[in-house]
Amino acid sequence: MKTPIVMQDLPPDLKPERLPNHVAVIMDGNGRWAKRQGMPRIMGHKRGVDALKDLLRCCKDWGVKALTAYAFSTENWNRPLEEVDFLMTLFQRVLRQELREMMEENVQIHFVGKLDVLPRSLQAEIERSMAETQHNQDIQFTVATNYGGRQEILEATRAIAHLVQQGKIQPEDIDAALFESHLYTKNTCDPDLIIRTSGEMRISNFLLWQMAYAEIYVTDTLWPDFNRSEFHRALSSYQQRDRRFGKV
Ligand code: IPE
Ligand code: IPE
Ligand code: MG
Repeated sequence: MKTPIVMQDLPPDLKPERLPNHVAVIMDGNGRWAKRQGMPRIMGHKRGVDALKDLLRCCKDWGVKALTAYAFSTENWNRPLEEVDFLMTLFQRVLRQELREMMEENVQIHFVGKLDVLPRSLQAEIERSMAETQHNQDIQFTVATNYGGRQEILEATRAIAHLVQQGKIQPEDIDAALFESHLYTKNTCDPDLIIRTSGEMRISNFLLWQMAYAEIYVTDTLWPDFNRSEFHRALSSYQQRDRRFGKV
């Protein structure tokens, strides 16, 4: 289902030169949204996809160059099997359906997380979409799937330990740049703004290394209800912040 485009241009009160380069969203509250409508949780996930599609379009319209969405955490496997199965099937179907539009819209899609344990058919769809869109340049869209910040840091540490063991590098060579080059996010800049919906004041294992100096914005709105006006509010809040990065 196509979401109608409400507004094309950046709202006049937002300053283009003060937009975040990279916005990351913790899309939370799908289950609660569905429950409030008297529907099963999975309906919330379906509606959540529409909200994400509209946010991606909005980022493109307004000039945000990178968007990362947290779709499935390493802890989400602990949910009921039917919900996990539904989500995996949903990811695969949406990817297949949206590929053409992503090509038309010049979206470069990328996935971060431990992808090699996902269902094979989903892995194939992921590889195909990343390969086909790799030269697109209007916006970089990253989907965190089976993503865990701790897992990512552990994997990087293990890979670097191997390099030291093989004598390819010395322990003194390990600096932030080398470490980052072993993270899933090696091709993306750090997020400037992290938005979490549904009011929870926590990080839930998202981008632990990368969010060192990200601005955090939490809204009580549940993810399926997150729309352009909500995003506008988040960006207004971001533009009023004083990012000091430890300076005075
Ligand atoms: C976020 O919504 C989507 C995923 C984690 C996949 P939830 O499913 O966590 O919704 P709530 O938090 O239970 O309402
Ligand atoms: C965070 O939401 C993960 C995603 C949005 C994919 P959760 O619903 O899993 O987080 P908790 O359990 O409330 O911390
Ligand atoms: Mg949740």
